[in-house]
Amino acid sequence: MKKRIFLSPPHMGGRELEYIKQVFESNYIAPLGEFVDRFEKSIKNYTKSRYAVALSSATAALHLALRVAGVKEGDEVLASTFTFIGSVAPILYQKATPIFIDSDYESWNLDPNLLEDFILKRLKSGKKLPKALILTHLYGQSAKIEEIYFLCEKYGIILIEDAAESLGATYKEKHTGTFGRFGAYSFNGNKILTTSGGGVLVGENQKDIEKARFLSTQAKEPYLHYEHKTYGYNYRLSNVLAAIGVGQMEVIEKRVKKRREIFEWYKSFLGNFEEIEFMPELPQSRGNRWLTTLTFKRSNPLKIIEHLEKHNIESRPLWKPMHLQPLFKDAPKVVKGVSEDLFKRGLCLPSGSAMSKEEVELVSSLIIESME
Ligand SMILES: Cc1ncc(COP(=O)(O)O)c(C=O)c1O
Repeated sequence: MKKRIFLSPPHMGGRELEYIKQVFESNYIAPLGEFVDRFEKSIKNYTKSRYAVALSSATAALHLALRVAGVKEGDEVLASTFTFIGSVAPILYQKATPIFIDSDYESWNLDPNLLEDFILKRLKSGKKLPKALILTHLYGQSAKIEEIYFLCEKYGIILIEDAAESLGATYKEKHTGTFGRFGAYSFNGNKILTTSGGGVLVGENQKDIEKARFLSTQAKEPYLHYEHKTYGYNYRLSNVLAAIGVGQMEVIEKRVKKRREIFEWYKSFLGNFEEIEFMPELPQSRGNRWLTTLTFKRSNPLKIIEHLEKHNIESRPLWKPMHLQPLFKDAPKVVKGVSEDLFKRGLCLPSGSAMSKEEVELVSSLIIESME
């Protein structure tokens, strides 16, 4: 059997082991230490965000964002429906109610027109607006962030960007994750960079990020005996994993360049088939093309996944929209069929940054073979 081609496997930059060794030599295996600080600094420098806290996951980062934003039981939180559960599970942790908003075809991300319609209808009905919006930049491609940002500003909705998949993606040269009050990046095993598991919460407001830092280490008041006025979480990233993160951040631009190149390779092999449409990229944005994704006009993506699997190649459907999940069957939603349609017709292709052009060609030829 040929070597498996994975969807998005880890790809080390080269210095990670050396940094882990330094951690071991210092014996700072325990959480926190020099590399956590260095990792946070590298994120701030790269994304141009003012404050950052390294955490155990992006899910933890989003949870802390909601908690610091004051979202609590009974509140409502708007969210992209076309996303992964990690974006929205934190809304349930806070016992708040999600309201799902559909995508548009131009960005595959949250449709600002639907958002505005919802807001205006709400205002007309005299009911309160939701407290926050968790906006996902799906597959590393920027949402219509400017329009969404202005709507949130105008109507006093706290904007939290789920940039878990979009580290390195920009809109008008500003990094996704740095428009809203909070932004979350993921360093999970399958992301463009990985610390095996990890996340970072960024923000412009020092008090916000310091509060998140406080909550991420069990909300310990500064007394030797550990006093608690509230409860927190054990959400910090360990110094060992942060050492991997420091090594990974050294190659982020290389990784973005390579993922974008892989997308171009797929386009060169598949772009001429009118059966296929690739995920778009908004004007004035640069996606990181974390995964190359596409839709078919007629072909069944599940059949193509099966065919690729026979050749030991991993692929998968697009995310199943949250409003279609049994968990959220009763949740309020504003949808018009776009994310459902994309889900039905879509496919995520292997896009790991160590892929060769020959591998991309092989995947493409197998897709062509099994297309209708
Ligand atoms: C869109 C999105 N949001 C949130 C998450 C959660 O990130 P983590 O696995 O770091 O908790 C992920 C990925 O895992 C994701 O793809």
